Amino acid sequence: MIDVDRIRKDFPIYSKQPNLIYLDSAASSLKVSSVIDKIDNYYQTLGVNVHRGAYDLAYEATRLYEEARETVSEFIHAKNEEIIFTRGTTSSLNMIAGSYRNILKPGDEIITSELEHHSSLLPWMVTAKHTGAKLVYIPLNEEGRITVDAFQSVLSDRTKVVALTHVSNALGFLTQIKEITKLAHEKKAVVILDAAQSAPHMKLDVVDLDVDFMAFSGHKMFGPSGVGVLFGKEALLNLLEPFEYGGEMADEVYKDHATWKDAPLRFEAGTPVISGAIGLAEAIRYINKIGFDSIHAHTHALQQYTLEKMSHIEGLAIYNASSENPVITFNINDIHPHDIATMLDQYHVSVRAGHHCAQLVNKFLGVSSTLRASFHIYNSYADCDAFVASVIAAKNFFEGF
Ligand SMILES: Cc1ncc(COP(=O)(O)O)c(C=O)c1O
Repeated sequence: MIDVDRIRKDFPIYSKQPNLIYLDSAASSLKVSSVIDKIDNYYQTLGVNVHRGAYDLAYEATRLYEEARETVSEFIHAKNEEIIFTRGTTSSLNMIAGSYRNILKPGDEIITSELEHHSSLLPWMVTAKHTGAKLVYIPLNEEGRITVDAFQSVLSDRTKVVALTHVSNALGFLTQIKEITKLAHEKKAVVILDAAQSAPHMKLDVVDLDVDFMAFSGHKMFGPSGVGVLFGKEALLNLLEPFEYGGEMADEVYKDHATWKDAPLRFEAGTPVISGAIGLAEAIRYINKIGFDSIHAHTHALQQYTLEKMSHIEGLAIYNASSENPVITFNINDIHPHDIATMLDQYHVSVRAGHHCAQLVNKFLGVSSTLRASFHIYNSYADCDAFVASVIAAKNFFEGF
């Protein structure tokens, strides 16, 4: 059971913004004080580089950075060698798609979907253009979900890459990635999973899912912005060309060629996001302490409670009542979502309005934009009530014209 009053004490923003009704965690979560403290402590007491210096401060910074890698690898059941710290999901997915420009050939196929965030779609669109490979879309079902059957209908001997979202940021639908991965592997295709929305809400086990690469971001899971993770199976990573070249990633350098270290350092050229990695590890410890079962029970209950209340509002279109993640995506009659969101802000309610960097979802729904309310552990039933009241007030206001 989550005690929201107790949880809010861990999030300093609530003492500074006591009226805050934050329902935009799918965009970025609020930040935990222990994460902020760890980052502050690194800068206050160390602040030096990792993997380079032969002095105490450098050893300690390196220890903390590598300890962070271990925390991440345990979190998703990977090996330390399989965890690369990046700038975030976007950079992780660009790194992989960029690397596959050296591998894909004309006629090869990349399976993707209309549910993808632009970070999971555009890098592959550009890689397809560069290589002559073809993007193939899984037909979504009526609700907007990726089904295993639909995946199978586009899978072929030409499939080389399957790049999919685990949980849609726009609709919160969960992809059955384990079943899809099994089928993809039978065709010897690699599976790249965008876990930006699932990592903050559910246990991810890369051994169980068996995906080949996976990406997620720190800022959506109580951690800092500017840091993310690229997981890759060790054997695959060491076959890939590095994405960037520079300090600490080369093994031997000659005048006309160089050799590369193995993963993960092979893919962490230059000074890495040291404080970010340390902060992300603390965010993971915080999540582990709360536990995904409690996180899910609480946020799912809020989602169901809010959906029930919203079902009494006339003229409301809800696009994802069955979503696994605690996300409610909706529109009110013909009122523009940005107008509604601006009005909700008058009531201190923060929601997202727009295309959510997933324009193909809106095209699928046949709308130009939507509103999205998303929940996390610091949200209360009072937040849900205030949100619903503000939606009704906004609706009445705009319908009065
Ligand atoms: C499903 C999904 N993929 C990728 C991203 C991109 O993450 P970031 O902006 O942290 O790189 C997001 C962020 O909203 C997302 O929701």
